[in-house]
Formats: sequence, C-alpha cells, structure tokens
Amino acid sequence: MRKTLVVGNWKMNGTRAFAAGLLSELKALSPWAADVAVCVPHPLLADAAQQLQGTVLAWGGQDCSVHAAGAYTGEVSAAMLADWGCRYVIVGHSERRAYHAESDETVARKAQAALAQGLTPIVCVGETLAEREAAQTDAVVTRQLAAVIALLGERIQDVVVAYEPVWAIGTGLTATPAQAQAVHALLRAQLAAATPAAASMRLLYGGSVKPDNAAELFAQADIDGGLIGGAALKAADFDAICRA
Ligand code: G3P
Repeated sequence: MRKTLVVGNWKMNGTRAFAAGLLSELKALSPWAADVAVCVPHPLLADAAQQLQGTVLAWGGQDCSVHAAGAYTGEVSAAMLADWGCRYVIVGHSERRAYHAESDETVARKAQAALAQGLTPIVCVGETLAEREAAQTDAVVTRQLAAVIALLGERIQDVVVAYEPVWAIGTGLTATPAQAQAVHALLRAQLAAATPAAASMRLLYGGSVKPDNAAELFAQADIDGGLIGGAALKAADFDAICRA
C-alpha cells in the first residue's frame, strides 16, 4: 500500500564536481522499485535540477524559511525551492533544532510554508541519548509531531515523517529494527488520530542506515523507507539501500 521512499540527505557536503559525479553514477544505477530523492545543499540545486530532470530521481532542499519572501538575509524560501523543481524539503532535522535553535513551532511553520508551495515536507523528529535514557523517547517525539499536527490539521496527511534518533545520527549506532518500529507505530497511531489517511502516510527511519541494515529496518511494519546521511554520499551504498 505504501511505496518505499529513500531520501539522501547530503547535509553540508559536496562541490559541483562531486555532485556531477555522484548524480551521474546514481542515474546509471537507476531505476529502483522505491521512490528515491536527494536533498542537496542549496547551491547545488541548479545542477541537480539540470542533471535529474526527466529521471526517476527527485531532488529537494534541506531546510526552508518560515517566511514567504523579504528581508531575511541568508534564508531560502519554499517558493525558491519549488522554482528549482524540488519535490521535497527536509524540515526540523535535529541538526537544525540543535544548532539553529529551531523550536517545534518553527518546524511546524516550515512544514506549512513548504506545503503552501506544493513541496512535500519531510518532518524530522527524534530524541537525544539523554532523553532515551530518561525514558522520554515517546514523550519527545509525540510532542514534536503534535506541534506539526496542531498547525497543519488535515494537511498533515501530505507530510512525510522521519524518525531520526539523535544518538544514531552519524554515530554508527543504529536503532534496532524493534526500537525503530516501536516509535514508528507510536507516530502512526498519533497520525491516525489526526487524519484518516495515516495508514497511507510514509514514515522514514534515519540514523546510520547502511547497506547491511537497511533491509531489516525497511521490513518493519511501519517503516516505509529511510533518510540517509553518510551512506547517501557513496553511489554504491546509496544504491544498495534503495534496493533494500
Ligand atoms: O538525515 C539523515 C541523517 O541525519 C542520518 O545521518 O549519517 O547517520 O545516516 P547518518
């Protein structure tokens, strides 16, 4: 019922030359049974749009402003991302929450701004190690998602949710499939209380997804794909994950 979605989050990595090489490798390795997208740094969007137009690979941004336009130096609007042909934009990544002090409400407003421009926001939620150890995981992810539901209402159905435990990001530590599935089931139940479309929404797992653990994670009942960091920067690894 739900088609697997695999999204590469390049984070702040890549030159134009690197992007040209990786994207042409990925194009040669395509197609996949899953939907696949790459979220590249903003300066690489024009190159991605040019290289990926007409292919099975979609592209997106890694953040957008809550504002539509105006005097917001350094910000990039959802309209600008849409203008470059983006299908997706990541919002609320834990690195944005931690290093740019993004609140749950800000993340919700970014998701709203993305939807208003026809983009699919990939809304990230996830607990820190301290929160997990304090048995706060459920409370944290529920609070983070609730802010988005509260602002979007029924339109929550047009969002992709990514569960990324902060302690698993870039650490080589992965949530076990059972740990990840438990949180995904909780999130889907929360979504089900907000929209009848919850069963068809895609929930991604992110955090040290690699070729050797992707299949088991993606096989879980409520895990519909992945948001991939480090492994998205190597064509062979990303391809293997897209095939998992
Ligand atoms: O958004 C993807 C991410 O934060 C996971 O990164 O390097 O652990 O796959 P990584």
